[in-house]
Amino acid sequence: MHWPSPPETADAGVALSLCNHHGKAMRQIAVINQKGGVGKTTTTANLGAALALSGRRVLLVDLDPQAHLTLHYGAELVEDEPSVYDVLIDGRPVDEVVRPVGENLLLLPAHIDLAGAETELVSVVARETLLRRALTQATVAYDVLLIDCPPSLGVLTINALVACSEVLIPLQAHFLALQGLSRLLQTVALVRERINPRLRVGGIALCMHEATTKLASEVVDDLRRFLESARDSTAPWSDACVYRTCVRRNIKLAEAASFGQTIFTYAPRSNGALDYADLAHEVLEHDGGGAVAGAEPAAATHPAPEPPPLAMAPVAEPAVPAVTDAAAPEARPVESPARASGRNPRQRRRRPPAQTAGESAAAVAQPAPTP
Ligand SMILES: Nc1ncnc2c1ncn2[C@@H]1O[C@H](COP(=O)(O)OP(=O)(O)O)[C@@H](O)[C@H]1O
Ligand SMILES: [Mg+2]
Repeated sequence: MHWPSPPETADAGVALSLCNHHGKAMRQIAVINQKGGVGKTTTTANLGAALALSGRRVLLVDLDPQAHLTLHYGAELVEDEPSVYDVLIDGRPVDEVVRPVGENLLLLPAHIDLAGAETELVSVVARETLLRRALTQATVAYDVLLIDCPPSLGVLTINALVACSEVLIPLQAHFLALQGLSRLLQTVALVRERINPRLRVGGIALCMHEATTKLASEVVDDLRRFLESARDSTAPWSDACVYRTCVRRNIKLAEAASFGQTIFTYAPRSNGALDYADLAHEVLEHDGGGAVAGAEPAAATHPAPEPPPLAMAPVAEPAVPAVTDAAAPEARPVESPARASGRNPRQRRRRPPAQTAGESAAAVAQPAPTP
């Protein structure tokens, strides 16, 4: 496995407001790992709930066509209720689609029709910035934005990376879990270089952790060494940490999801609740400078050294997603939309997929906000 080399420079510029209505610094966190089943949705749901319990106003965005985050909050949509699909494809205001799912908690829900968005956005101009624009125009107030991403590095995940300033990577510390990390970090670096200079990796959260295994501790040591080697560099992960809190394997977390509840209502004394409460404290502590209003990426003193390779066999990586500049006049394909077809029998199609770039842009693209 080759760790990515960081870009030498990062463009300056801030595109999305960094303050909420009270002038307080906001956190905008994309929960990403292109591997499925690593704990993204569980982390988004329960970290969000823990932050809300601590008094933060939290906006959750379900950007996964599987809509697991929406189900986790027991907010399954019935036919024709608006979802994040309508925000991205039809330009429907976020304010009309968000719904309260608890005290201090708002959810921008997903429906399985979101799978169609991957295909429908292929010809849309500036499709990577749709979510950012929609959120910028929203008037809902929040302190923390948490986006649950699909298990891919396609156009939906790129939208999350463009809309956020921070990446949280849930990871299971075993051999296979590290396979895609290099590609994920490369994608983060690419998005930061081309579209979103504020983007950085906040931290890696170890999920379903089994601290007693030798392999897990070796993997964690490797990760910490790698992150240490990037300190004071230009890499988007130069301030990243492996959070001290490891979310232990706890069946209550899986049960809570199946009952449409967070761990704090389902089993508030469980290890799962304790771990996510601790993780929330750590995430609030470790803002890495990214939550400071007006902050630019920290000045780098040197490019990141080449990190030591992890001891693992090389694996085939998915195709690098094409990241286009928001202002680029031409639309380019982002990723094979194969996963969008035939998987969801309930898929609602409201718009024929064959659109010209111009028609799509007129329908969904709003004028870019002034930075
Ligand atoms: N710490 C944990 N202990 C036990 N089960 C967990 C834990 N975290 C997640 N799970 C379960 O593992 C499965 C995958 O987790 P999920 O959060 O949906 O992953 P992802 O969103 O990355 O696909 C789900 O069934 C979830 O309930
Ligand atoms: Mg998920």
